[in-house]
Amino acid sequence: MSYADLTFTGLKIADGKPEIPGLPSITASGSEAKTLELTCGDACAGLRVTLYYTILEKEGVILRHQKIENTGSQTLKLENAQSLSLELPAQEYDFLSLYGTHAKEANRFRFRAHHGVQKTESVRGSSSPQYQPFFALVSPGASEEKGEVRAFHLIYSGNFLAQAECDQFGNVRAQIGIHPDAFCWELSPGETFHTPEAVLNYSDDGLNGMSHNFHTLYRRHLFPRTFAGKECPILLNSWEGMCYDVSLDKIEEQSSLAKELGMELFVLDDGWFRAGNDSRSSMGDWTCNEKKLPGGIRAAAEIVRKNGLKFGLWFEPEAISRKSRLYENHPDWALHVPGYPMTEGRHEYLLDLTREDVRTYLKEMLDSYLKDGMIDYIKWDMNRPLTDVSSTLLPAEKKGETFHRYILGLYDILGWLKDTYPHVLVEGCSSGGARFDPGMLYYISQNWASDNTDAFDRTVIQSGFSLLYPPEVIGAHVSITPNHQTGRTTPLDTRYQAARLFNLGYEMDLTKCTEEEKNEIRRQTAEHIEERSRFLDGTFYRHDVPNDNYVMWSVVTEDECLAVVFQKFFDPLCSHGRFRLLGLDPDADYMDAESRKVYGGDELMQIGVTVPLVKEDFHTFVIRLKRAFCCTGL
Ligand code: DGJ
Repeated sequence: MSYADLTFTGLKIADGKPEIPGLPSITASGSEAKTLELTCGDACAGLRVTLYYTILEKEGVILRHQKIENTGSQTLKLENAQSLSLELPAQEYDFLSLYGTHAKEANRFRFRAHHGVQKTESVRGSSSPQYQPFFALVSPGASEEKGEVRAFHLIYSGNFLAQAECDQFGNVRAQIGIHPDAFCWELSPGETFHTPEAVLNYSDDGLNGMSHNFHTLYRRHLFPRTFAGKECPILLNSWEGMCYDVSLDKIEEQSSLAKELGMELFVLDDGWFRAGNDSRSSMGDWTCNEKKLPGGIRAAAEIVRKNGLKFGLWFEPEAISRKSRLYENHPDWALHVPGYPMTEGRHEYLLDLTREDVRTYLKEMLDSYLKDGMIDYIKWDMNRPLTDVSSTLLPAEKKGETFHRYILGLYDILGWLKDTYPHVLVEGCSSGGARFDPGMLYYISQNWASDNTDAFDRTVIQSGFSLLYPPEVIGAHVSITPNHQTGRTTPLDTRYQAARLFNLGYEMDLTKCTEEEKNEIRRQTAEHIEERSRFLDGTFYRHDVPNDNYVMWSVVTEDECLAVVFQKFFDPLCSHGRFRLLGLDPDADYMDAESRKVYGGDELMQIGVTVPLVKEDFHTFVIRLKRAFCCTGL
């Protein structure tokens, strides 16, 4: 479309909020939300645009998307359709976004917004580990605990553009939506296009305030209902322990030990369908290799269930190996540009999810595994960016739709999965956190945050993701030391403390644990099971700390607070550390579970607790407080 001049034609205010066809979005009832619909038109171009603004007052957010209709008689080409465009008054802002890479996801990047455009974006076909479909305009000096934040998040899993343009007068235009590069949508007469939904979030309580708005919104109105607000099972994942070399004997051994140590779900990761013990073949066939697992997946599931655990299975449905029966039979099912060499990533290509026959194949394949009810959990992995993005079935004039149609195809399969098997817990994964976004979290209940399981690297990664997502959806596993990714050795307790406030799991060969380690793991799982229901809807805080040698997190409920402080290196000049709490009732008294000392809530938030520091690198301190209902007891 080369020109459009939209003028206001009408408005409507209605209770609730409309769904967005084919796209994930926030759901809210008539009593929870109100939606303003502004309609604009351009009779000359034959265009009608409806702008939707939904206010969720309790959550402190506004949602925004648009519907674009071709009301004329000519075919239109839509080249850029942002979900949100917001003008902000001239004032100083910091631009905050998240960047990363495989095994180093969700790092903060913050700088003073300058004249011109500052942006974060993905054109890799998925939201990507490089960036997150989010940015915030933060008042300079704002911290976790104070300051103004205007944040923007896109409920979408594909290419995105998120930018702020500061004009010559200092006014700022914030925009977020599908990336216009490699996007061109043909709109025939009578057709409609819906943009993904953007979330606008305002807080004057610093970054924690922003996070609390996102957490509450997603907990109440986005995550799949079967699992939202429920206790998450403690899982043992086979990847770091077995890699591709899986066998029924190992499954027997690991799952019985997992049960003994208090775990609740055994996840058989990659390897079960592979011809060999590497990533070079078999992707797309999804037939269990019975040389590794005689009796197939059913035999594996029976062993795990007999041992008293739930059973979970890994898939990477979107991938296809050149060495596979599927590729031999359907080479045209892989994304490719005819006549050009195809680009392998991790020895695989991606299936063309824009095709209905491909989607039907994947649904039938998943159905064949799920229908006997032996699988309680699926890990949905995806290990490469999109390349060779062209679909053989789309005509030349629609090629620019492929990226977005891929994501719509993905949502179609995930929507089918959620509706057909609502009780199967789905964990998202994309080489770790490469597609960790609110679009996916409409269909899945938790997301693996990173293949980097090093406890100290995890303090950065999980702090980053916690800006946007509540801790229970952020997968965090205790693994062995020296750590597979960093070679670093950290105490078992520190590895547990880094995971316990999140979606706790274990990922190691349990047969290699010493008796002492097993006892410690038993104590950890028992403690977690005892406390997790109380902290389910707790408020998660990241704390401003004295310096970057420390990271502090806490979860606070009406009556309790559980805080974890990580000490990177022991500082010989500091014998004690003082750590302030957040979110307590200033008028209440709290008892420290360890020392039995009683403190005022105001005192804990203004002065804090003094902790004797321990001469150990990568050490953690736990502060556990309970509201004291009278001076003598809890
Ligand atoms: C990448 C994931 O992030 C890992 O956890 C594991 O599932 C591997 N893929 C298996 O190939």
